[in-house]
Amino acid sequence: MKWSKKHIISIKDFSRDEIDYVLKKSSEMEDRLSHEKTGSLMKNKILSNLFFEPSTRTRMSFEAAMKKLGGFTIGFDYPEVSSEAKGETVADTVRIASGYSDVIVIRHPMEGSARLASENSSVPVINGGDGANQHPTQTLLDLYTIKKEFKKIDGLRICVVGDLKYGRTVHSLTNALENYDVEMCFISPMELRMPRDSIKGLEDRGIKVKESSKLNIKDSDVIYCTRIQKERFPDPQEYERVKDAYVIDNSSIEGIEDKAIIMHPLPRVTEINPEIDRTRHARYFEQAKNGIPVRMTLLSLVSGVDF
Ligand code: CP
Repeated sequence: MKWSKKHIISIKDFSRDEIDYVLKKSSEMEDRLSHEKTGSLMKNKILSNLFFEPSTRTRMSFEAAMKKLGGFTIGFDYPEVSSEAKGETVADTVRIASGYSDVIVIRHPMEGSARLASENSSVPVINGGDGANQHPTQTLLDLYTIKKEFKKIDGLRICVVGDLKYGRTVHSLTNALENYDVEMCFISPMELRMPRDSIKGLEDRGIKVKESSKLNIKDSDVIYCTRIQKERFPDPQEYERVKDAYVIDNSSIEGIEDKAIIMHPLPRVTEINPEIDRTRHARYFEQAKNGIPVRMTLLSLVSGVDF
């Protein structure tokens, strides 16, 4: 695959070989980072961070990644300080940013916004999350975390819990896992089930799929928990009905396997009790940290930087 100038919009645009390549290069990048050998890879290059929605991890880790590669970041953290407040379109904003920078990261509440951005940019665009649709760089760091832990992805039993209707991280992750020989279990309230096309995508590949509304996580290697996405509910009363659907705490992990890990893209609200942080199973903080080498890798690859 030709990586230079490639846009990263949806995980569905990537084959298994391409995903595995990113994971391998991310491991190499992490090694380089530990030896402080990354500071000139993107010297004086500029990243535009265009964040039309709140973010802590995605925005900060892309900024840290660019700085660790020797580059700079410009942009905005929330749309009120951009000319969107005066009525400027996403397309025009991106056209302008692509004249100021070498690569663009965009987060926007509208599904398809990152694709639209890529059609209006002369530099590579990376999707930092478009509505409830996709979050491909989160998926790559999720897979990197899983592979670091188990040294493989094939053969694992992966259980996804929470808001599977509106959660873009679980949509991307599920699409990516179609490429692997895994078993999937989806746990959600009935009204927040995984989209049917995602389930069909797995089943078409012969992947065993279970769906349930009961929090049975015992037979899992990976328990991937998500927040109920309050901001995406058209009806606030519907959110109130499901907001406390699941809480993972010390009692709910009784009987899970010693090797099982608990992941979460974060932010969490109430769905993982902080008492879990002190258990051997918690991996969500390491997962967030893994965003640095993975995003450094993606910035380098799409910029044509060899390492
Ligand atoms: N996981 C994730 O996308 O976190 P932020 O919303 O803080 O970027």
